[in-house]
Amino acid sequence: MKKPLLDHIGIAVDDLDAAVDIYRKLGFEVDSIEEVPGFGVRVAFLPMGEGNVELVQPVAADSAMARFLEKRGPGFHHLCFRVDDIRAELAGLAEAGVQVVDAEPREGAHGTLVAFLHPKSTGGVLIELAQVDSPKSKIQNRE
Ligand code: CO
Repeated sequence: MKKPLLDHIGIAVDDLDAAVDIYRKLGFEVDSIEEVPGFGVRVAFLPMGEGNVELVQPVAADSAMARFLEKRGPGFHHLCFRVDDIRAELAGLAEAGVQVVDAEPREGAHGTLVAFLHPKSTGGVLIELAQVDSPKSKIQNRE
């Protein structure tokens, strides 16, 4: 991978509106709130420096996020790095012995293409990769 750029820090929450209120007290503003059907979650993006805080609340009881909250409770969930070509990155990482959760990228928030790496092969941290300039992405030119 070339020099990683942090796109967001993902935080698991059980009440998105209450979590947004907490971050507003810290000076954050909400950029967008949307549902991501493929993951069974509702997310809020709050810009921070070059990146964002992503608050993630499950809306589907059978989602991975619902299972995470049940097991671990609210708190830190994942780091997300931006990549230019997610398929090339996944192929390179798999070749380097990194276990990927999504061999094929999935549609994430704002039409980005995303894939997760398995925490077992990343020292216990769930890492998401996001290609933000995918054709349906709305944040490709955001600075
Ligand atoms: Co994320």
